[in-house]
Amino acid sequence: MNTTPPSFDSTYFRAALGRFPTGVTVITAAAEGMAPVGLTVSSFNSVSLDPPLVVWSLSRRSSSLKTLEQCERYVIHVLSSEQMSVSQRFASGTAAERFNGMPMTHAPNGSPKLDLQCAAWFECANHRRYEEGDHIIFIGAVEHCARTESLPLVYHAGGYDLTPAGVGK
Ligand SMILES: Cc1cc2nc3c(=O)[nH]c(=O)nc-3n(C[C@H](O)[C@H](O)[C@H](O)COP(=O)(O)O)c2cc1C
Repeated sequence: MNTTPPSFDSTYFRAALGRFPTGVTVITAAAEGMAPVGLTVSSFNSVSLDPPLVVWSLSRRSSSLKTLEQCERYVIHVLSSEQMSVSQRFASGTAAERFNGMPMTHAPNGSPKLDLQCAAWFECANHRRYEEGDHIIFIGAVEHCARTESLPLVYHAGGYDLTPAGVGK
């Protein structure tokens, strides 16, 4: 492994990464004997069509880490352009505050699911995890998914400036 220190600092690295626009998801899960968790995640991407696999990464500092390591499955909600407030809600506060007043239902295999019109959602089995740096990489095996015609929420350079018109309508 190359241990030479990089010629850039982590703030600059983060700003450079921010030039890569992404969609925004909220991931919800529950493990036996634990309260449900949910958090905003933009590191989501596709891995494989056959078998259907997706990837996302979680900070080791996440308060949801234990539940997400132990849960059997989770739901990844791709937020629509009108759900900026949902992205902000699941990126701050406590788990109880995030779910307070939030309409909830269950995905077909029982995972807690936001009862909102998202752009898409995926119910995933918690297939594999890899420790890398300050994050844990999660591979989800997709069991169910659905999509709508809603435009996506777009995250770029620490904000939502590239989100299609429709935010706040
Ligand atoms: C747009 C956006 C994308 C984010 N993406 C990620 C991500 O991919 N992985 C991650 O660990 N945190 C991500 N975060 C930060 C978490 O949502 C935030 O730290 C949250 O408070 C973590 O909650 P927890 O500690 O209860 O798990 C993102 C935040 C925002 C606003």
